[in-house]
Amino acid sequence: MKTWYEAIESAQNVERIEEIRIAIFGKKGELAEAFAAMKNAPDDQKASIAKELNEHKNALGVLLSERKAVLQLQELEAAMKAEAIDVTLYGPTPLRGALHPVMETMDRIVDYFVSMNFSVQTGPMVEDDFHNFEALNLPKHHPARDMQDTFYFNDQMLLRTHTSPVQIRTMLQSKPPIRMIAPGSVFRRDYDITHTPMFHQVEGLLVDKEGAVSFANLKFILEDFLKYMFGDVNVRFRPSFFPFTEPSAEVDISCIFCGGEGCRVCSKTGWLEVLGCGIVDPNVFEAVGYKDVSGYAFGLGVERFAMLIHRVGDLRSLFEGDLRLLEQMR
Ligand code: DAH
Repeated sequence: MKTWYEAIESAQNVERIEEIRIAIFGKKGELAEAFAAMKNAPDDQKASIAKELNEHKNALGVLLSERKAVLQLQELEAAMKAEAIDVTLYGPTPLRGALHPVMETMDRIVDYFVSMNFSVQTGPMVEDDFHNFEALNLPKHHPARDMQDTFYFNDQMLLRTHTSPVQIRTMLQSKPPIRMIAPGSVFRRDYDITHTPMFHQVEGLLVDKEGAVSFANLKFILEDFLKYMFGDVNVRFRPSFFPFTEPSAEVDISCIFCGGEGCRVCSKTGWLEVLGCGIVDPNVFEAVGYKDVSGYAFGLGVERFAMLIHRVGDLRSLFEGDLRLLEQMR
């Protein structure tokens, strides 16, 4: 019995403690055998043998559970050390998204005009003939309707071909003065390296009292805007035609690729066309019931801006969802 004390003290793991417990306290363990052997002892010794065995039984029981507790703790600590995770180690870098170049460009355009106190207006993509054409001085059979190849649902309903109908909706809903832009998607039956069936425009409209808005105001803000977008470029206004403005102009910037020298991108002209604009045609004001007002309007294609800013050669690549293109935006 005495040797067990020594064995318990020197046990190195919980498993060993369990073996010892069974060897002492098990059904066929040493204590059971010793108690059984007692019946062969002389009667006058039985009491003292039993007393001694009970003392061992108690003392060994206490010692076992104490040693077991110590070993359990040691094993727990060892396991925690072995399985510890080093939270300071570098893991794989998570992929971060980025704004699509078209949306990023759109945000930049909107930021400029918001800073100039223009409000942001929206309208439906499924439009009717009145807002998309008629009220913009494009009556049925007007040859300028051919400038925009339209997706029609029926005689009256269509996918808007530009964001100009939002001008009409805004004027019908509010009184002058108006200072608004309308960013959004537009749709045309077109598909080549500079056209996709869906693209984005930002329309601008400013209306105030008769005689208050001049071409000089338009020229100033567009020049300032284009310098904000493209840096130190030259800006020129070329006479042009739009049904909703008179006079109308197309606006060019000096080529940002060759600095105006003439290259492949600007077709050797030194200029890049970036937007259309003009003084609002009186017929448009008449269509919305505005009297004694003057105003200017402009419209631009966001993809065109994004292509120039990010030097994208084929417009269609902006909509292919190729991650290699998008990854460059991070
Ligand atoms: N709506 C024209 C287009 O889609 C763009 C435009 C040109 C809008 C001149 C205007 C403008 O407001 O004055 O091609």
